[in-house]
Parts: sequence; C-alpha cells; structure tokens
Amino acid sequence: MTKLKAELPGPIVPRSRRPKWPLVSAITFFATWSAWLCLFAPSPSLPLSERRIRQHSADSEMCVQTSPLIPQKNGSLWNNLTTLHATDDFLARAISQLSVAVQIPTETFDAMGPIGEDARWQSRGSFVDHLEKSFQLLHSTLALEKVNTYGLLYTWQGSDSTLKPILLMGHYDVVPVASSSVDQWTHPPYSGHFDGEAIWGRGSLDDKAGVIGMMMAIEVLLEHKFTPSRTIILSFGFDEEAGGYQGAGHLAPALLDRFGPNSLAMIVDEGHGYSERYGSVFAVPGIAEKGSVNVEIEVQTPGGHSSVPPEHTSIGILAAIIVHLESHAPKSTLQIDTPVFEMAQCFAAHGSTMPPAIKRSIGRARGSIKDLKAAEEHLVQDRMFRALVETTQAVDIISGGVKSNALPEQAQTVVNHRIATQSSVNATLSRDTKLVMDLARKFNLSVTAYGELLTPPGSTYGSVALRAPQSLDPAPVSPISAPPFRVLAGSIRTARNTAAGGRGGGVRCAGALTALLDTRFYWPLSAHIFRYGHRNLLDGTLGGIHTVNERMSQVRFLPFSSGADSELMRADVRADAFVEIITYFTALILNADEAEL
Ligand SMILES: *[C@@H]1O[C@H](CO)[C@@H](O)[C@H](O)[C@H]1NC(C)=O
Ligand SMILES: *[C@@H]1O[C@H](CO)[C@@H](O)[C@H](O)[C@H]1NC(C)=O
Ligand SMILES: *[C@@H]1O[C@H](CO)[C@@H](O)[C@H](O)[C@H]1NC(C)=O
Ligand SMILES: *[C@@H]1O[C@H](CO)[C@@H](O)[C@H](O)[C@H]1NC(C)=O
Ligand SMILES: [Zn+2]
Repeated sequence: MTKLKAELPGPIVPRSRRPKWPLVSAITFFATWSAWLCLFAPSPSLPLSERRIRQHSADSEMCVQTSPLIPQKNGSLWNNLTTLHATDDFLARAISQLSVAVQIPTETFDAMGPIGEDARWQSRGSFVDHLEKSFQLLHSTLALEKVNTYGLLYTWQGSDSTLKPILLMGHYDVVPVASSSVDQWTHPPYSGHFDGEAIWGRGSLDDKAGVIGMMMAIEVLLEHKFTPSRTIILSFGFDEEAGGYQGAGHLAPALLDRFGPNSLAMIVDEGHGYSERYGSVFAVPGIAEKGSVNVEIEVQTPGGHSSVPPEHTSIGILAAIIVHLESHAPKSTLQIDTPVFEMAQCFAAHGSTMPPAIKRSIGRARGSIKDLKAAEEHLVQDRMFRALVETTQAVDIISGGVKSNALPEQAQTVVNHRIATQSSVNATLSRDTKLVMDLARKFNLSVTAYGELLTPPGSTYGSVALRAPQSLDPAPVSPISAPPFRVLAGSIRTARNTAAGGRGGGVRCAGALTALLDTRFYWPLSAHIFRYGHRNLLDGTLGGIHTVNERMSQVRFLPFSSGADSELMRADVRADAFVEIITYFTALILNADEAEL
C-alpha cells in the first residue's frame, strides 16, 4: 500500500537557456514537468490501492512497459562488461575520462564569426585531438569524417550491410560560464574536479557525459573484441548551444547524402534522463517536439503632427490587434493519441501518487468524452501542462513611435508561438491572419499576410502586414509501439536495474515532449528519433545544467523518505551515475545489434 503523502522536491528553474529564437529551453520543459507534479501533491484522503485503481480504469492497455532487455546473443560479453563496470578500477577510469574532457572549455557563444576566423572555435580542435588520444582503439577501428571542420561523424561498420544503421548523437560544446558567476561555483567550472562524490564542471552533464559515455562504451566493447553486425554511426555537433547550424546543420545533410531518406533504424540524441514523477521513477525519452513561429505584425498609417490626430494612431490600432489576439487565445484541449495524452496515461498507469480520481478519468478518456474532459480539466489547471497541450502565444516585442509630437507612422509587434504537436505552422499563421482580418474593416486597413494581399484593392487609411520569416513545424512523432522504442526502453530499464544492483527495474518509460534540439536537422533520416540522455535526476535537481555548479554526481542520496514508492526509492540510494551512462550505451548498442529493427 502506498502512503499518499509526498513532499515533492521543488524544481530548480535555471536561467533561460538560449535567448535566441527559435530555440526553446529543453531544461525549461523539464522544470515544467516537475512543476506540473506539484499540482498533484496528493491529498491524504485517498487511500486507494494501486490494484483497485487498475480495476477502475477502463484502459487496461495503457502505457504497457517493455521488460528490461538483456543482450542475449552477446550475453556472455554483457555479463563480463557489467562485472567490469562495477569495479572500482573502472569507476576511476570513467571519472578520469569525464574529468579531463570537462577541462577543455568548448564554449559556444551566440553570433560567433566564421570557422577559421573567429578564434573561439579553436577550442574544438583541442577537444578533438584529445578524443583521438584518449580513445585510440576507437579511432583505429571506426572511420572518422570531419564535417565542416569540427563536426564528427564516426562509422563503425557492421558485418551485415542489409541492416539499417543506428545513429547515436551528442554534442561536445557547452554553454559559456558567465564570468560574474565563476565565484559561485563550489569548484571552478573547468576544473573537472572530483571530490569523491561528483565530477564538477561545465559539460559534465550536458553533454560531454553523453559523448564521453558513448566513446567509453565503444572503446571497452572494442577491447573485448565486439564487432557489430548492424552499422553504428556517431555524430557529434559542436555548436548545439547556439542552434546547431554549424554542426548538426552540416552533419545531417552529409548523412542524408550518404544514406538517403529513411535510411536509419533509429536515432538517439541527448534529452531528459529519469526522475521521480508521481512517486515513481520515470524515464522520459522525447518522441515529439512542438513547433515554433514568430509572427511579426506591422501597422502603418499616415504620419503628421500630433496636434491634429486621427481617432487611432498606428500604436492604438496595434494595441487593439494585440488585445484581440489575447482575448482569443488558442484553446487548450487534451486530445487522445497525442504524445501528451500518452504521457499522461503513463503517469496514470504507473505513478503511485497520482490521485485515483484523475487516474480513473485518464484511464477512461479514450472511450468517454466526459472522462477526457474531466482529465483535461484537472491537467490544464497547471499552466505548465497547458503549455504542453496547446499552441501558445506570447506577445514578446513591441515598438513604434519616435517623438511625442509626431504621429507614429509604424508600430510593430512580434508574437511568439510554440505550436502543439497536433497543429502546424500553417494553422497557426491562418489563425493570426483571421484575427487581424476581424479588425481590418473597423480600422480601414489593407491586410497583407505573408506576402499575399487579402483585402480588396483600393484606398485605405492604413495597412497591416503579417510576416513569419522563420518557422518550424512540430516534429514528426516517433512511435512508441514499434521495436526501436522498445529497444531503447528495454535498454534504459536494464541499465538502471544493473546500476542499482538489480533493484532498479522499476523505472518506467514514458514517451514525452522535448524542446528543439539538434535532432530537428535529422528528421528525414528516420521515423524513430528519440531525445534521451540517461541521467540520474532522482534528487530533483537538474545537476546545474546551464547554470552554476554543473556536476555529475557519483552518489545520489534521495531526498524523499516518505510517500512515493519507498521500496523503489531505497533501491536507488547508491548509483554511480556516470558508469551507469556507460552501461546504458553498452546495453543500447548490444540490444540494437541483435534486434529486428
Ligand atoms: C567472459 O569472461 C570469461 C572469463 O574471463 C571468458 O572466459 C569469456 O570468454 C568472456 N566472454 C566474452 C564474450 O568476452
Ligand atoms: C557476439 O555474438 C556474435 C553472434 O552470436 C558472435 O559471433 C560474437 O563472437 C560475439 N562477440 C563477442 C565479443 O562475444
Ligand atoms: C501551408 O500553406 C501554404 C500556402 O497555402 C502551402 O503552400 C503549403 O503547402 C502548406 N504547408 C503545409 C505543410 O500544409
Ligand atoms: C478608408 O480610407 C481611405 C483613405 O483615407 C478613404 O478614401 C476611404 O473612404 C476610407 N474608407 C472607409 C470605409 O472609411
Ligand atoms: Zn545539450
């Protein structure tokens, strides 16, 4: 029986990841979910057992979990490797590799000059040299192609060329450390200092842990004579933190050139790890991403002296348009078979502290509009959850007017939209156009939307133009019922279980939404793209990602003692988090090698 009382750890909301549109902070979304959890800090008056809840939910098939997947074909190798991973020597080797990698600052700044001109790219060269020295077996076995100077594309040729390759992605650049924050670090940000508990430094989690974890897994597999039957490709970007245009933006086309569309069995990039949700441990591989678009709206009217003003100036008209947009904000509706709905089903099926009434509604939502509405009503009460469900709009920039005695000829605004997975850029643009059109007659304006004149030709008092220079549709949703997701989920569960000494098999996998990452360049290459970085985030913090004191903890003590699934939690008291990442990549590589994908 679960005790229904949990003090959930508060999310640490780091400073905004990237000021530059169109990138959304992955981390904000993570914090988002943590915040969403707080909504359901359960009331103690609901002592229903898990079993009874199951009987009440009509959707018995909801969020079926793949069993932990243990490599069979190379089972003996797997056993030997996990035994090795558990040794102190291996832990020391792993710590040292990550520590040294952190000591090379590969900072990415916004608006860097061209490669070869801007000296700040050069840190990449040192890092690549370092990789070549540190992983010699890997570099003598895998083919390395450098794309756009610092993009790294490794090919580990499989023996069976009829099998579609898998692609593992990462990035080795890091967000800069603000000089004003250096003294807030417990250990200097590029020290890679290991204090017996954690490896400190920028990149220790995001994403050198991914890159080095992957390389260590492969180096050790090579030391043990493993040869893949399915080709494995690694691609490492070097400017993900500024949008990935130089790295992923060149690597993906190079792969597309070589292999063609839909040629890869699966792609796994960085993303969220696993953490506590509703009293249970959930890994949340990203299977979808919202889209985004900035709509610029510009109003023009005749200028003149402000002593003889018209009824409405450009600014007044723009204000009316903004009010109209905000009073017709997009509605949030929970729709079945969207990634958000399926994620909610996972939390309902496996989250031990979600209130039973909500579990029931979510469980029955597929077959009952009434329950779907009830589930929605509960879930969208939280602003953070609502942001996942709906297309959002935020009026972020406004300008107009230059002088107090001159009528403003122009006024502009920028509306930022994040587009729901079930919607599109087109639908979002049309909606804004329609709302602007509503006011065109009233203010006697011509309307030009995205280059097309929509109002009848003829003289008008003024004009309004909508523009959307950059936009991105929501990502195609990767299926969670197909073998690639099952291989990923099974490998995650196995890695967790192995690292927790056989008592971590309780981790559940729920397909989730993530923010824009490097994967957006790779969409044509595979229908199975997952954003998941195996990271132990059970302590409820984000380990300092993108802020001060980023660190890879070796030992994580769980802060929650009561409530939740305490048996499961106890199993997690000690975990060597970085070694577990290596175990995860080992499981993924071996499992993908023998699976039918
Ligand atoms: C695993 O280790 C045992 C004992 O050292 C050895 O006999 C066996 O060959 C190893 N298996 C593999 C696949 O490396
Ligand atoms: C892995 O499995 C394959 C197929 O059974 C086998 O040929 C190969 O020797 C194994 N490799 C290792 C290193 O155990
Ligand atoms: C969006 O609308 C434009 C113009 O109507 C059209 O050409 C384009 O194909 C549409 N795109 C999608 C993805 O529907
Ligand atoms: C709109 O403005 C134009 C130009 O000032 C004017 O000629 C026209 O009569 C106006 N139309 C209406 C409906 O007020
Ligand atoms: Zn990252």
